[in-house]
Amino acid sequence: MKVLVVAVLALVAAAAAAAAAAGQGEEGGGPPLPFAVGAAPAGCDVAQGEWVRDDDARPWYQEWECPYIQPQLTCQAHGRPDKAYQSWRWQPRGCSLPSFNATLMLEMLRGKRMLFVGDSLNRGQYVSLLCLLHRAIPDGAKSFETVDSLSVFRAKNYDATIEFYWAPMLAESNSDDAVVHSADDRLIRGAPMDRHSSFWKGADVLVFNSYLWWVAGDKIQILRGADNDPSKDIVEMKSEEAYRLVLHQVVRWLERNVDPVKSRVFFVTASPTHTDGRAWGDDDAEGSGNCYNQTSPISAASSYRGGTSQEMLRATEEVLATSRVPVGLVNITRLSEYRRDAHTQTYKKQWVEPTAEQRADPRSYADCTHWCLPGVPDTWNELLYWKLFFPSNDQVL
Ligand SMILES: *[C@@H]1O[C@H](CO)[C@@H](O)[C@H](O)[C@H]1NC(C)=O
Ligand SMILES: *[C@@H]1O[C@H](CO)[C@@H](O)[C@H](O)[C@H]1NC(C)=O
Ligand SMILES: *[C@@H]1O[C@H](CO)[C@@H](O)[C@H](O)[C@H]1NC(C)=O
Repeated sequence: MKVLVVAVLALVAAAAAAAAAAGQGEEGGGPPLPFAVGAAPAGCDVAQGEWVRDDDARPWYQEWECPYIQPQLTCQAHGRPDKAYQSWRWQPRGCSLPSFNATLMLEMLRGKRMLFVGDSLNRGQYVSLLCLLHRAIPDGAKSFETVDSLSVFRAKNYDATIEFYWAPMLAESNSDDAVVHSADDRLIRGAPMDRHSSFWKGADVLVFNSYLWWVAGDKIQILRGADNDPSKDIVEMKSEEAYRLVLHQVVRWLERNVDPVKSRVFFVTASPTHTDGRAWGDDDAEGSGNCYNQTSPISAASSYRGGTSQEMLRATEEVLATSRVPVGLVNITRLSEYRRDAHTQTYKKQWVEPTAEQRADPRSYADCTHWCLPGVPDTWNELLYWKLFFPSNDQVL
């Protein structure tokens, strides 16, 4: 135990020292960021704003016309009775940016490789992006294939790929099987994530996320040494500490493998859940409600925080700020907290058929974590689009 803690501290210290030695990044001046075609107006923070109902402009695509959506996210096909959740547009406060243009994005990605790395929420965002681009590419000029942990979408006329790599904790873990995995007994490998990161090399745009699997329990197990190490040396750590450790490993990998003159890196912040209606003032006599049956967003005045761990958010912000390769935060947390209405609820493919008892109270098996498509992840991609092509001059990104 003691040995590992010392090793961990050394790792953290090394990362911090490297960041300090590099100075505070290249704020102001400097060459334009790769992929930038414009700039956000001064003072424009796209994470602040409000949801506006817009039946004319939303949704951007129909659920049935996008073949890439997994059956866990096709809510209409699974009987969801309402559709209003598809019709909200995010309006940043005090500024407007160009709307999503699939042709522009494809042209900018010509000859490039864009890669999402993370968990099922990141996969939802990835699929949303494919749906947003789908219509702009003729049939026969695109393909989609998944092999083990890697999904590859190819836009042939653009010689571009948009890919997703399953690594819910970024580090190597016992959750790495893309199909068979469970959030119980989480175990990560303390060593650098070489097996995963060999797939990340050479990407021109990287979009990471990682949150949900870390908050499935207070503690996490860490395995030291290699697969064939007979000692199977396992120690336990607080999840948040282990999360910081892994983010530092990601930063070290970025600094060694990513050229910021050619590539951009983003991290999507925590996606909130809506599992307890009392938190937004829904205290009906029948007991605690949740996202089930919700058909409208929470009002902008609400202070609902989605149960999101503020410690984990802080860890994300603090560790990534130390990176010499700038990492743009796609801050989806607050805007998604308003959207109690947009989860898949019970309208999804169920891996295990609900029991008669569960069916009698659908709240008991409603999924208040994942999001229907079209829906909220389309807005996450709009934020990503703005950050990638219209970065703000105010901040590093
Ligand atoms: C995300 O945006 C919210 C709302 O503007 C803000 O309160 C929060 O500090 C932001 N978080 C990060 C990590 O930038
Ligand atoms: C989208 O981008 C393309 C390529 O830059 C451009 O030709 C087209 O006019 C844009 N469409 C809209 C609606 O702005
Ligand atoms: C869900 O809404 C329907 C229709 O308004 C209502 O009959 C039902 O009681 C609601 N269920 C729950 C669990 O709130």
